[in-house]
Amino acid sequence: MLIAHISDFHVFAHAAETSIVRADAADAARKVIADIATFTPKIEAIMFTGDLTDGGSSEDYALLGDILAPINVPIFVVPGNHDKRAGFRAMFDDKLPFEPGHFLNYEARFKDIRILALDTLLDGQVHGALSEVQLSWLEEKLVAPSKDLTLILMHHPAFPSTIAPLDHMALQDGRDTFERLIVNHQGPLRILSGHIHRPFQTLWNGIFCAVSGGPAFQHALTLDPAAAEPTTVTEPYAYFIHRISDERNVSIHTRYVEL
Ligand SMILES: [Fe+2]
Repeated sequence: MLIAHISDFHVFAHAAETSIVRADAADAARKVIADIATFTPKIEAIMFTGDLTDGGSSEDYALLGDILAPINVPIFVVPGNHDKRAGFRAMFDDKLPFEPGHFLNYEARFKDIRILALDTLLDGQVHGALSEVQLSWLEEKLVAPSKDLTLILMHHPAFPSTIAPLDHMALQDGRDTFERLIVNHQGPLRILSGHIHRPFQTLWNGIFCAVSGGPAFQHALTLDPAAAEPTTVTEPYAYFIHRISDERNVSIHTRYVEL
């Protein structure tokens, strides 16, 4: 089975909120979606880890809906710091089993995979958070051992990229408890995130974690711990295709798309 992991489209209907988002972000997003829709063999599901839109207006989500129209497989999404919960919920409410209440968490299944989607959006902030409510919900889901693969989707990485200024903008509140929960879980687990705008993969506490590239802009690779926030670069854009054989085996391919 093939699944795609994409992130950070930042599409906008009128004007970008973020100065470094490319002016043709919608066109770039359409190219990524066209690549997924026409890939052979068929990509059977898409994991989209946040910042779907740049400003979160209803017009932005309408544009996103048009961009995603060529996709006829399930799309599992989480909000990023640039999304807005109202428009996000309105767009996906008939497709995803959101929990009632403020947060856009949900548990879903795709074949033998359990998907736990976590809403790390903290209104008005760039960094992410998991509240006590969120962590209790997650603990309930992870307390029982599971033989099936669990995929956690969350926009803000809890794991380090080691690009220090970007890690300061990642998951902050609730991070230690989150780490304890996933380390204690008995069963295969992987974490997919976005936010960093640079594709990378890591083992964190022995757990496979990945951030997919963002077509709207890409950060330079800056591993100096004293560095300021990375500038943007025009390196080739890539998303990830996971070929999942079973809960223990996966090959992860870097798929480049010319934007
Ligand atoms: Fe982003």
